[in-house]
Amino acid sequence: MLAASTRVCSRLASPHASSPAAAAAAAAAALASSPVLGSGMSGLERQPAPTVAGFGDTGRSRGADDPPPRSCNSSGESREGYQWNILPYQRQPMPHQRKVTAGLNHHVSGASCSSLYQQSYRYFSSSSDQERIQAGNKLILDLPRCVKIVEVGPRDGLQNEKDTVPTPVKVELIRRLAASGLSVVEATSFVSPKWVPQLADAKDVMEAVRNVEGVRLPVLTPNIKGFEAAIAAGAKEIAVFASASEGFSKSNINCTIKESLARYNDVALAAKEKEIPVRGYVSCVVGCPVDGPVPPSNVAYVAKELYDMGCYEVSLGDTIGVGTPGTVVPMLEAAMSVVPVEKLAVHFHDTYGQSLSNILISLQMGISVVDSSVAGLGGCPYAKGASGNVATEDVVYMLNGLGIRTGVDLGKVMAAGEFICKHLGRQSGSKAATALSKVTAKASKL
Ligand code: HMG
Ligand code: MG
Repeated sequence: MLAASTRVCSRLASPHASSPAAAAAAAAAALASSPVLGSGMSGLERQPAPTVAGFGDTGRSRGADDPPPRSCNSSGESREGYQWNILPYQRQPMPHQRKVTAGLNHHVSGASCSSLYQQSYRYFSSSSDQERIQAGNKLILDLPRCVKIVEVGPRDGLQNEKDTVPTPVKVELIRRLAASGLSVVEATSFVSPKWVPQLADAKDVMEAVRNVEGVRLPVLTPNIKGFEAAIAAGAKEIAVFASASEGFSKSNINCTIKESLARYNDVALAAKEKEIPVRGYVSCVVGCPVDGPVPPSNVAYVAKELYDMGCYEVSLGDTIGVGTPGTVVPMLEAAMSVVPVEKLAVHFHDTYGQSLSNILISLQMGISVVDSSVAGLGGCPYAKGASGNVATEDVVYMLNGLGIRTGVDLGKVMAAGEFICKHLGRQSGSKAATALSKVTAKASKL
């Protein structure tokens, strides 16, 4: 019961339920005034048991107590139609093996046999409507009351732009994001300008924003050289970034995982001396563009190393966005077995459109820190084909709909997104921002 027992935030009241029409009508008015834009949660459908196959295969084999596999026809549809209300209760509680070998290339035993799923099966075992409603409510009541959003657009987003964005535009973007209520905005990276020329102006950006109030502005540092440059420019918080896969470690930072951890240990020691908080990233937590599927135990190993060297938070990055709840749950269970859940964050790129479902399942497991990028900007120059992070606007919209506090003004983030998209000459990658701007445009014509 790791997820249930280790939550940080207490739980919340039920969200607003509304019809889609009412939600659309309310959206324009709500944009200016309300923190909650009503998507509502009209009903919860039971998820099928996670599929762990293909690219995201974590090496899990079906346990004896797992529910029988669903039969699918050639088009991939389940013949059972996921009618959870008429399914008999098939799953028995099983002793949860949470023994993780925190070493590279060892699989996590039993990690995918989530207690969450066991509970879900139990919740929906009754045919009574009342019980089903209570079960649905419980899934929502168990979510965190508040979520911290870490905005990574100015760094993760702009590092991946073909053309370098002018420094004053970056500075204005950071100011606007800070003014929207975001408490953390990752500002830039002090990495080699030969490797990431888009952020070669890190010093100028940091010097321009260092005194912006009410927001923390961490920057990425790959080594001591980057750390020293960041501090000289006025950075008060840094982040280091390791990988759960060897292939990506080499292509991204030109060294092995072990070598990178030794470097970061030096950075962490230097930061400790100066009382600079350090955030840690683990990249490729589900899949790697070079090595393919990544075992959860690799993630646990790197996350624990970062945590033990003093990172106050470890963000788990699905760099190429291949994860689904089926692969994210075992990965999180592995990480949560070695790092306290309140010290973990999730960082999903949205390549396969899975980010929101991955975030929701992460929240259900007790995570309460989510990275996102305004307008869905982003990607990693060393992870070909990876698209942007989940859009901040979409995350805020979903959390507002769930009644979860973020302290973020959706309208202001949308405006920041419009600002940067206008500069880049492209459409926002946020579905919520696109839909809501249409609604407001229509409303203003009335
Ligand atoms: P290297 O070439 O192996 O290292 O780079 P080096 O130490 O031999 O240095 C080579 C040159 O770079 C030297 O200059 C150094 O001075 C310089 P030269 O003598 O040739 O003129 N150099 C630096 N310059 C400025 N700042 C520094 C610095 N360090 C060395 N800090 C290095 C190794 C790690 C530096 C390089 O590979 C690098 O900068 N990589 C950065 C890659 C990167 O930024 N990737 C994107 C961020 S990670 C990400 O997006 C994933 C994440 O979002 C999470 C997720 O999505 O999963 C965080
Ligand atoms: Mg990223």
